[in-house]
Amino acid sequence: MKKKALITGVSGQDGAYLALELLNEGFEVLGGLRRISTARNLWRLEELGILDKIKLVPFELSEQSQILRVIREHRPAEVYNLAAQSFVGSSFDVPLMTADINALGTLRLLEAIRDFSPETRFYQASTSEMFGKVQEVPQTEKTSFYPRSPYGVAKLFGHWATVNYREAHNLFACSGILFNHESPFRGEEFVTRKITRSLARIKLQKQQTLALGNFDARRDWGYAQDFVKGMKEMLRHSSADDYVLATGEMHTVQEFVTAACSALDIPIRWEMENDQPIGVHAKSGLTIVRQDPAFLRPAEVDQLCGDPSKARKVLGWSHSKTFPQLVELMAATDYEREKKLG
Ligand code: GDD
Repeated sequence: MKKKALITGVSGQDGAYLALELLNEGFEVLGGLRRISTARNLWRLEELGILDKIKLVPFELSEQSQILRVIREHRPAEVYNLAAQSFVGSSFDVPLMTADINALGTLRLLEAIRDFSPETRFYQASTSEMFGKVQEVPQTEKTSFYPRSPYGVAKLFGHWATVNYREAHNLFACSGILFNHESPFRGEEFVTRKITRSLARIKLQKQQTLALGNFDARRDWGYAQDFVKGMKEMLRHSSADDYVLATGEMHTVQEFVTAACSALDIPIRWEMENDQPIGVHAKSGLTIVRQDPAFLRPAEVDQLCGDPSKARKVLGWSHSKTFPQLVELMAATDYEREKKLG
């Protein structure tokens, strides 16, 4: 009989890439899906050609009875908890919902596993956002946490719940502290995809400007497909533990824009206007990138840079794509998509 793996949040960027990996390994993949998910949300699974190979199961992290039923019926060998209210910016507007899904949802799942499937290996999608106002650079598994958003606060609860269920109930539960990871499957509201999609549209004259929030925010951006491989490695190791996955390199949002312009062959020149950078098209002289305060956050995470030494040493994990390669892949894919859309 095939081993079963449950992925909550299967329709997201990481869920889709992970499902592909697990199917290739011969797993029966159960894809947890919210009832409100529509065909529109399944585009990643369709694009990977795996939609009909996954068994989609209705799954709400806010619904304890449903979680219990799924875990009791399937008793999966592996559970990857990737479902979340994952947009940091929105968490300031919907803090309670964010806490219910990201914090209590994780606890509900852990409780179900503890009671009905204690042999299950559990992966929790923790995040570098837990480091928030960073206490040291680079951040490791031992760095103190200081979340700066309701999202980060809720994820910190999920992280400690995972550690606690490992220590108190002897579950094989791992927390992956993942730094930002991107790909052409990234949602359009996240800054990297917003940049590559908008610039592709600007190049094709379908859009005039790209409005962003904080140009100075620095992130450690890696390639999502590398990161889902790391999730699997954590669950396959002989003992459960927590790991940072990161590239160890930081770039600003402005540097991401410059790299994407270069990938798309858009000549950009940076100038200052009202103390803020604006990106000017070097040939037309038109402003193509500017700031809109609407995209600033009430509390910002200024910089994140991870040290993945432990994952490298213990799991043999490392990232494969460099920053320019990642930006180029995303920009080229968005350009082709936008060209096709006409
Ligand atoms: N989304 C967005 N839109 N972010 C902007 C913009 C904009 O117009 N302009 C500047 N930024 C800045 C944000 O303020 C933030 O500092 C940075 O760009 C990255 O924002 P996001 O791409 O939205 O990602 P994030 O870092 O907040 O969170 C992502 O990474 C976490 C891991 O560190 C998400 O994927 C989280 O779910 C994940 O946990």
